[in-house]
Amino acid sequence: MEVFNLGVKPCCFWLFLDLFALLSLLASVSDAEIHYHEFVARRVPVKRLCKNHNILTINGQFPGPALIVRNGDSLVIKVVNSARENITVHWHGIRQLRNPWADGPEYVTQCPIKPGATYTYRFTIIDQEGTLWWHAHSRWLRATVYGVLIILPKFSYPFATPKQEFPVLLGEWFDRDPNAILRQAQFTGAQPNVSVAYTVNGQPGDLYRCSSQGTVRIPVVSGEKILLRIVNTALNQELFFSIANHQMTVVGADAAYTKPFTTRIMMIAPGQTTDVLVSADQPPARYYLAASAYQTAMNAAFDNTTTTAILEYKSAACGKNGRPLRPILPRLPAFNDTATATAFTAGIKSPGRVNVPTEIDENLFFTVGLGLNNCSVPNSPRCQGPNGTRFTASINNVSFVFPRSNSLMQAYYQGVPGVFTTDFPPVPPVKFDYTGNVSRGLWQPRTGTKLFKLKYNSRVQLVMQDTSIVTTEDHPMHLHGYHFYVVGSGFGNFNPKTDPAKFNLFDPPQRNTIGTPPGGWVAIRFIADNPGVWLLHCHLDAHLALGLTMAFLVENGVGELQSVIPPPADLPPC
Ligand code: C2O
Repeated sequence: MEVFNLGVKPCCFWLFLDLFALLSLLASVSDAEIHYHEFVARRVPVKRLCKNHNILTINGQFPGPALIVRNGDSLVIKVVNSARENITVHWHGIRQLRNPWADGPEYVTQCPIKPGATYTYRFTIIDQEGTLWWHAHSRWLRATVYGVLIILPKFSYPFATPKQEFPVLLGEWFDRDPNAILRQAQFTGAQPNVSVAYTVNGQPGDLYRCSSQGTVRIPVVSGEKILLRIVNTALNQELFFSIANHQMTVVGADAAYTKPFTTRIMMIAPGQTTDVLVSADQPPARYYLAASAYQTAMNAAFDNTTTTAILEYKSAACGKNGRPLRPILPRLPAFNDTATATAFTAGIKSPGRVNVPTEIDENLFFTVGLGLNNCSVPNSPRCQGPNGTRFTASINNVSFVFPRSNSLMQAYYQGVPGVFTTDFPPVPPVKFDYTGNVSRGLWQPRTGTKLFKLKYNSRVQLVMQDTSIVTTEDHPMHLHGYHFYVVGSGFGNFNPKTDPAKFNLFDPPQRNTIGTPPGGWVAIRFIADNPGVWLLHCHLDAHLALGLTMAFLVENGVGELQSVIPPPADLPPC
């Protein structure tokens, strides 16, 4: 059933009907198309690490169905909720111009699709090419509800068309129902349980118990070039990724082309995508692709295992006497190798000069990080965090609280008062040494449902500053409804006097998710040309649940073409 089921095939037998065949089919059609899909959310039994689970899926597939479209195409996806929990689906990285109704985060742009209900997402891909993905945006359902969204070029790639292409979805596998883990953490106030495996296209690979049968195999022919579309779908973990004995040439990230550069190691954060070309230029054999944690939070538990898939030269698939050769394992960096992670991220640039706003209308400075709430009865069942506290997280000292009975977008559109306020602070309420020794009095944020208003077409600079409250950490910050230019980043406190002079306003990368270096800052710029309510959040779901999020309310401009379109009739009732 799985579209990219590259595993579980007997040795010496290859089905040559792969994505490539699909691509040539699509290539014969040049006009914009409308793709209709039905996504039925339902539970199916799945066995991983010797244990049976009943996981939530779309159409019974894990990972979910791959969407393969072309720049300019439209999608009409009817989501049918045949599960017992609420669900929504988010099309991660799609700009959704003037169309927040199709974006998906629950209680932000829509209320959830209730059990038995349906909602049809309708949207068009405008000027985006490369790899994106879709995932549930409700509680922790995205742990198993996700899939790739491939946007083929309107005309051709800015590089020689690869012989084959494969999605590589890096995921996290949990021992228990992900929503149960979240519920438990929200009760105790402690760090949620960590995953027990990482996965490639849903399969942990050879280094885990009861997993070799399913290990994903990527067949290559000596001498050919393939395109890997790598996505970090993990719930809570940045990952290092490498292929034994093979270099990777990065050609795209977050559905934008990049200046090609070659690397042996990549770091990819939840939410990000990276497209790489790989030449099958090594002696025919079997080579592991592998991923393991890049972990920056200090004194926190994390999953220290390694997932693998096999890059298998077809001529070597059967090895000697029909017994497959043992694959070669790549060497991955130490989990805390920030130098390698930083160097990789800094290597990603736009292919040439881009149009970055140089004048700025809104100069925003957001502190992002964790916090601790003090308890009246420390160490009680609900106060199992460090020293009997509860974990929390905030941006500019506001820990975001989602509405429960309406969505922000609907409340805004219909003028319903009392759901949110628009007083989100543009700078932190007090200045302090953000990455130094922060006084305990600043560890406990306030709560609120605060939005920041942006005028249509305003030019925005946003500096996101990690804090050392509880721990410094790489927070992969994702902005809905936009992509932005990453103009600078550094360690320590951002210096507004000296750092902007070092910004790259020539060829910065265009992204939708970018991490704060641990104990550092990252600066982005964008033009607020997409009206609606758009979430900005840490793509570690553990942090999102703690309130490490806020939303922009981008006002309409002048006339219909600069305004949010009316909501569809089947928008789920709140
Ligand atoms: Cu990929 Cu708000 O998320």
